[in-house]
Amino acid sequence: VDDAGQANFDAVIAKDSRIEPKDWMPADYRHALVRQMSQHAHSEIIGMQPEANWITRAPSLKRKAILMAKVQDEAGHGLYLYSATETLGTTRDEMTEALLAGKARYSSIFNYPTVSWADMGAIGWMVDGAAITNQVPLCRASYGPYARAMVRICKEESFHQRQGFEILLELSHGTPGQKAMAQDAVNRWYAPSLMMFGPPDADSPNTSKSMAWNIKRFGNDELRSRFVGMLAEQVKVLELELPDPDIRFNEDTKSWDYGPLDWAEFKEVLAGRGPCNAQRMERRRAAHDDGAWVREAAAAYAAKQSASNDR
Ligand code: ACO
Repeated sequence: VDDAGQANFDAVIAKDSRIEPKDWMPADYRHALVRQMSQHAHSEIIGMQPEANWITRAPSLKRKAILMAKVQDEAGHGLYLYSATETLGTTRDEMTEALLAGKARYSSIFNYPTVSWADMGAIGWMVDGAAITNQVPLCRASYGPYARAMVRICKEESFHQRQGFEILLELSHGTPGQKAMAQDAVNRWYAPSLMMFGPPDADSPNTSKSMAWNIKRFGNDELRSRFVGMLAEQVKVLELELPDPDIRFNEDTKSWDYGPLDWAEFKEVLAGRGPCNAQRMERRRAAHDDGAWVREAAAAYAAKQSASNDR
């Protein structure tokens, strides 16, 4: 242990300031950040798949252009987060290896199928809505590169959420068939989007340390409850319903109550046995293999450039 480094670290955390890459930091703080940030980056990259599934079938040129831009934004978020994680001394190759070997986690939500166009609306409104609720507090995370990455990512996520909401709004005011399709998508994505916030606080081993280090600012349950409140208001504008009769504002706790969630299903998804886990990993590995020539060409080009610079 570096005593002076530890004292500086403690002081920075105590005054709610930022740790930067060259500052001394405890090994377990570094480890916690690499864990969370790399999982977050992998989620963005795997998260491209469920929506890319609909690019060729978007119902108009305008919708197709918007969806393509959104999926590209997700690639950008992933790369941005890999770069931020690299400042902690873990290479992108190491992170990629861990993902491809099935050793790294990514968000549970991306293991569910996208079966109709309305799913693009529900993902934007609910999945990106949950992401914003979780990530706005991360703009104040104590690690500088992560916090700064989150500012830009949250701005783009806000646009993503608006586009999803607008898809659902249009469908819910369309034909009865379109409205039913929108309702069906909301029914299927509701519980999985609530589970994105992670296990209940009592089963969340990482929260207390992460909060002490100012990485996390709120527990999983508090953010989940806030998200339910947001959905409960916005669903009225959509003229749709949430598939949970237990949603109500609790005057005693001043937070939103909701019905029980199926945590056994969550554990299955985390264990790799969700509806699309195998398919997502297979696709990711194939994409990595398909990209081998690009990596080789880039490495050859870089070697040539550095050789000519040496001359
Ligand atoms: N999907 C997959 N794994 C999860 C999920 C989830 N929705 N929620 C929790 N877990 C995992 C945790 O990673 C942890 O496993 P690990 O210790 O092996 O890493 C375990 O379940 C226990 O959970 P917690 O102790 O609550 O973990 P943590 O304090 O890290 O909280 C959370 C989980 C809230 C997801 C946090 O990591 C976080 O805020 N991450 C950044 C946001 C993010 O990754 N979003 C990705 C989806 S949004 C998007 O990409 C559009």
